Amino acid sequence: MTIARAHTNIALIKYWGKKDPTLIIPYANSLSLTLDQFYTTTEVTFADEAAHQDEFILNGQRLAPKATTRLAAFLELIRQRARVQRYFKVKSENHVPTAAGLASSASGFAALALAASTTAGLQLSSRDLSRLARRGSGSACRSIFGGFVEWHKGYDDQTSYAEPLQADQHVAMDIGMLALIISDQPKQISSRKEMANTVATSPFYDAFIQACEQDMIILKQAITQNDFVTLGQIAESNAMKMHATTMGAQPPFSYFLPETIQAIQAVQRVRREGLDCYYTMDAGPNVKVIGRASELETLQVRLTELLPNTPMVAARPGPGAMLLSDFEFGQ
Ligand code: ADP
Ligand code: DP6
Ligand code: CO
Repeated sequence: MTIARAHTNIALIKYWGKKDPTLIIPYANSLSLTLDQFYTTTEVTFADEAAHQDEFILNGQRLAPKATTRLAAFLELIRQRARVQRYFKVKSENHVPTAAGLASSASGFAALALAASTTAGLQLSSRDLSRLARRGSGSACRSIFGGFVEWHKGYDDQTSYAEPLQADQHVAMDIGMLALIISDQPKQISSRKEMANTVATSPFYDAFIQACEQDMIILKQAITQNDFVTLGQIAESNAMKMHATTMGAQPPFSYFLPETIQAIQAVQRVRREGLDCYYTMDAGPNVKVIGRASELETLQVRLTELLPNTPMVAARPGPGAMLLSDFEFGQ
């Protein structure tokens, strides 16, 4: 039996669109920050010899076969690589809302990649683990590592993987994120489906990919120079350019809710008041506010005054995927 934990990551330069949907090779590099407050813990054992399919229990509930297709296909990759026949039994706990735009697919598939590959007897390097996690969910390849992480888009299965910006995965910048939980309900349209539709139909898509290349250069420079303000400005701008591509898609679509706009306006107001903060958003209505870690509490107090009904979770840079001993499960 193996237990693994992986934390979610939030992209500052977004991954949005697959050049190769089977191998999950993206059109552009992306760059994220792994967070300490949101994570998945996953336990994997071999099922009985008589079992004829994988079994999944997510947050104490057995998943219906329809909900397991994507997970079963991922475990099949591991069986092939490890040359084992046995099905798996997977028990997973999300300490993050599932499918709500808070990156459960990133922590979920990173934890599953580590736990299942270890159970199957594979001892993968972290780069190979990143490549494997990528096949479950693109963003999961970044959750193998802690701190700032870049996913190199590459051009095939070998060359598409994530890498920590700092070798020791330590974040020197005074940075954190406040997650504003506007809705913890599953999104109407999955990231996978909406990004495919965006690539296929949005006239803004090429412009977004070009912008990502420019944004990446400036953002990496900002990290090197410990320039929080530039990092925030670029992350905010990159996220809004991503959301503009879905509004330009056919059919037009947006993950925004009315409360999303209110939250964005509150962030802009607090910034005008003199507290540096920026917003980013993923495939869901929730807003993540980028702030200085040392100012996160002040930021939370002020934003709570402006948005009294919005739960907020303060997060700081988190670690990469790890194996746990069994008594730590459920913590
Ligand atoms: P999110 O914004 O939460 O990442 P996605 O639409 O990208 O939402 O992905 C949701 C999917 O991620 C789920 O349908 C499931 O396939 C997968 N997922 C979520 N949690 C886990 C988990 N603990 N283990 C494995 N896969 C998971
Ligand atoms: C907006 O990694 O969830 O969060 O590869 O289809 O599983 P799949 O999609 P996913 O997409 C993440 C999109 C994003 C941006 C990001 O995390 O870079
Ligand atoms: Co996801």
